[in-house]
Amino acid sequence: MNPQKITICGGGNGAQALTPIAANNIGCQVDIYAPFGDEAERLRTNSATHGGLETIGAVQSKSMPHRISANPAEVIPGSDMVFLVMPAFAHESTLHQIAPHLDANAWVGALPARGGFDYAAMSALAEHGREDVRLFGLQTLPWACRIDRYGQVVNVLGVKQVVDAATRPRAQIEEISAVLKAMLGLSIGAVPNFLALTLANTGQLIHPGIMYGLFANWDGEPFAKEETPLFYHNLSAAGAETLAGLDDDIQAIRSQLASPYLDLTSVHHLKIWLERSYAHSILDPATLQSSFLTNQAYAGIKAPVREISPGQFIPDFHARYLAEDVPFGLAVSRAIAQLAGVETPTMDKVIAWASEKLNKDYLGRDMNEARIPQKYGLENLEQLLAAYA
Ligand code: NAI
Repeated sequence: MNPQKITICGGGNGAQALTPIAANNIGCQVDIYAPFGDEAERLRTNSATHGGLETIGAVQSKSMPHRISANPAEVIPGSDMVFLVMPAFAHESTLHQIAPHLDANAWVGALPARGGFDYAAMSALAEHGREDVRLFGLQTLPWACRIDRYGQVVNVLGVKQVVDAATRPRAQIEEISAVLKAMLGLSIGAVPNFLALTLANTGQLIHPGIMYGLFANWDGEPFAKEETPLFYHNLSAAGAETLAGLDDDIQAIRSQLASPYLDLTSVHHLKIWLERSYAHSILDPATLQSSFLTNQAYAGIKAPVREISPGQFIPDFHARYLAEDVPFGLAVSRAIAQLAGVETPTMDKVIAWASEKLNKDYLGRDMNEARIPQKYGLENLEQLLAAYA
């Protein structure tokens, strides 16, 4: 496939980075669907003033989006591929908005997919009779990136060397991997099924795991902005132990479910994933902790905080590191572990702590608010294996 037109859904960091990168790399027409708040208007005005959307830092590109709209009917028709570049909690509502406007056999994908994207997307599309739509997903966002000036400049702090992708139907993974490789300008690992992508979602380990390490023993006292810890570069030995525990839980699920019929070899240990993703940015790969502390792509990124009174800051437990990565990550993997009969002690500990911070109970009462397979009809191991094996 050689996409002539793509549409990027979203108006945040990743969406604004992908727009010029895709246009520059493959010369396709890039439209943006940005229905959230007044984003379409701001993107239109600001990009026009700047002469396009621009990425600086690790990737340099600039391009004027062809059309930016908050109306799906204006941008979705005619798209060979549609990219959801937004936190996972916005996937389903966006799919409902775009489904009626998608071309027959269009491709819709999420960057990144996070946990359970495939069955949730199929369910949303089926409600519109759009079983023809084909899915792809990336294991992570290719870049660490932050908007520098909204609608104008995005700073790309780091680029992953390789990012894994899955498709449904899976037979087209090679074709889509080639397109993504050209479009994103990096290596794409072809993963044989979406379950592998769900389990290999390292954001679910890194983000809640580091939040737990940084703040589980926080004394509740507000602090000055300058005292905000660096998110990655202040990882303590105990924090790294939590990450290793979460990693062990994922590997236990992988080894229980993997079989000659279900290829989960792409569910790598966290340290291996770091080495694959950031080979040239990690100065000291000796341990898991040192791999984080010396990863230059993570330099300067602070923990999420919010100001509760002038100059007084507290951790922002409602930032996406918990609000996205628990219900669309850890809780999904834990639900899969339950189907597989696997114990997940560190996940249970981190989910219980995060749930309390989010005023939820993702281990019990609010489990069905997470994107767990049980909610979408995959209620026992047999059904799960039938969907993927
Ligand atoms: P972001 O926080 O910049 O995205 C926010 C955007 O998502 C909003 O501007 C809006 O366009 C859309 N959105 C948010 N809530 C919405 C809602 N309720 N309905 C409709 N649209 C809504 O996110 P970013 O940084 O672009 O990240 C996108 C995804 O990539 C997330 O899953 C994130 O965890 C992941 N990621 C981001 C990295 C980064 O460096 N930015 C690195 C690794 C992963």
